Amino acid sequence: MRIPIIDESNFIQKIKSRKNPFFAEYHAFYSSWFGGIVKNPEMMLLPMDDHMVHRGDGIFEAMKAVNRSVYLMEEHLERLFDSAEKISLNLPFDVNHVKEIILETLRFANQDNASIRVFISRGPGNFSVNPYDSIEPQLYVIVIPLKSPLPEKYIHGVTVGKSEIPIKSSWMNQVKSCNYLPNVLMKKEAVDRGFDFIIGIDSDGRVTEGPTENIMIVDHNETIIHPPLNNILKGITMVRVCELARENGMKTEIKSISLADVKSATEVMITGTSLNVIPVVKFEKGVIGTGHPGAIAKKLNKLIINDIESGKHGISF
Ligand SMILES: Cc1ncc(COP(=O)(O)O)c(C=O)c1O
Repeated sequence: MRIPIIDESNFIQKIKSRKNPFFAEYHAFYSSWFGGIVKNPEMMLLPMDDHMVHRGDGIFEAMKAVNRSVYLMEEHLERLFDSAEKISLNLPFDVNHVKEIILETLRFANQDNASIRVFISRGPGNFSVNPYDSIEPQLYVIVIPLKSPLPEKYIHGVTVGKSEIPIKSSWMNQVKSCNYLPNVLMKKEAVDRGFDFIIGIDSDGRVTEGPTENIMIVDHNETIIHPPLNNILKGITMVRVCELARENGMKTEIKSISLADVKSATEVMITGTSLNVIPVVKFEKGVIGTGHPGAIAKKLNKLIINDIESGKHGISF
């Protein structure tokens, strides 16, 4: 076999010949390594020796823009910088720089609604596992379409399964790292078993979270409960939904949730940036509550939609 040699003279032509149906969805990409914004999807490339690529040594955030405003941007940036601190990433830029880069990339993408993924990597270096072998952390921002579940999922509710994948340690769960292999395998389980979502269980049988979403239940006293934040990612949506619930006279509590609590809950709901609040009507083979979306989940979803549409908690671009 003769493998073609790619050099400067045919590199552009080679990468342009790659067909990828997802390319149509990539609106804009910022790379600190390139020092600018890239529009051509085939040029949205990362250095192979970036430790984020070969070791998963990086952190990320997923936020959304609605009506040209980034919802809860400050909260997402705070979580991003918390993650950076937890893995000792010494950043050569501050939060305002990251904010400006995101807003400028969004202006260039020119979409009213979008999903924004922000990555901070350990940076290029050699191929060792040693984080000190990288040159400097890099910032990458990609703007893609905002995809939410179909409206019928909010009307009829969703199904949730119990994951068999061992969850990450409690410390790792609090970092939004680029080490999402357990989360990926959980999502695969959900797809393979035909569930809309799947939930992790820790070694003590306590409910944790989904691959990219949180779970909350409502008990018989109409209290909205979510698991302690030391064993899950602090979901920005879940935290905001609980604030809105309290502002509207509802009770919230943070405490461990067992499988039995889920099964006997009057309502169960899933929260996340692209979902808002989605009602659960089935857990594994059992029905939740009446088997129909509950009133509290519906109310909370309305409250957060109003909060997003008010623009009061977003940053415009
Ligand atoms: C592991 C995990 N849990 C929960 C969430 C939900 O968090 P948020 O509401 O900030 O999207 C996410 C999404 O980012 C996640 O990756």
